[in-house]
Amino acid sequence: MSAPATAAVPIAGSATSTGAADGADSRRVLRVVGVRKSFGRGVWPWRRHRDVLKGASLEVSAGELVGLVGENGSGKSTLMQVIVGLESSDGGEVQRPSRLGYCPQTPMLWEKLTVDEHFRLYARAYGLDEHASQATVADLLGELHFERYRSYRVEQLSGGTRQKLNLALALMHNPELLLLDEPYSGFDWETYLRFWEMSERRRDEGMGILIVSHFLSERERLDRVYTLTDGETVAG
Ligand SMILES: Nc1ncnc2c1ncn2[C@@H]1O[C@H](COP(=O)(O)OP(=O)(O)OP(=O)(O)O)[C@@H](O)[C@H]1O
Ligand SMILES: [Mg+2]
Repeated sequence: MSAPATAAVPIAGSATSTGAADGADSRRVLRVVGVRKSFGRGVWPWRRHRDVLKGASLEVSAGELVGLVGENGSGKSTLMQVIVGLESSDGGEVQRPSRLGYCPQTPMLWEKLTVDEHFRLYARAYGLDEHASQATVADLLGELHFERYRSYRVEQLSGGTRQKLNLALALMHNPELLLLDEPYSGFDWETYLRFWEMSERRRDEGMGILIVSHFLSERERLDRVYTLTDGETVAG
């Protein structure tokens, strides 16, 4: 059974979202409106708060490859974590599909599990048919050229191969929305190029993709760009 096009993710302190695309854009797979987030640091009475997100808003539609850029520390990873639900927000609204893939900046993997064990674990978590998922996994291992590491534990993998696994895990359930937080910093040049081919092909097949990017040279690959500056997103 396929997931609903857009599911509500109510955020602490925010207005309750409707949970449905409002009809203005039925192809929309992500809608973020006025998200705020601050982090506290230190202990009372010296406790200070830093407002990282002060009203970030963005949208991604099916079949779009959208960039999220901004200086180090501008809040790009925090915004992605709020979208995924790993961080709560202090306000605002997020509507996202339930079938989403997330590739965090630092791979989230289990050191003692093998590559294959990760795929089996995620297949269960995603509720995938075992037979179908085996075929998808074989394709992803081939696309990213890391078949030979199937039986390796994560602690035995290089940084780039960990990132390949992280990316493959985010893709194995063919998500409607893919969130990529600098997924390629450890990739060699060939893999980097293959990564963009993979992303563009999935975009062309209808996936909505939001990617944190740092390089001006990548802008031409992106359909649109949001710049996160002073806690707010600016289109372009
Ligand atoms: N859990 C946390 N507790 C306290 N402060 C945090 C936490 N997570 C992030 N921050 C702060 O929020 C700000 C934004 O961090 P974030 O990681 O979102 O930036 P970024 O734009 O992804 O940076 P980079 O380009 O370096 O990856 C930083 O000042 C960071 O120190
Ligand atoms: Mg980051």
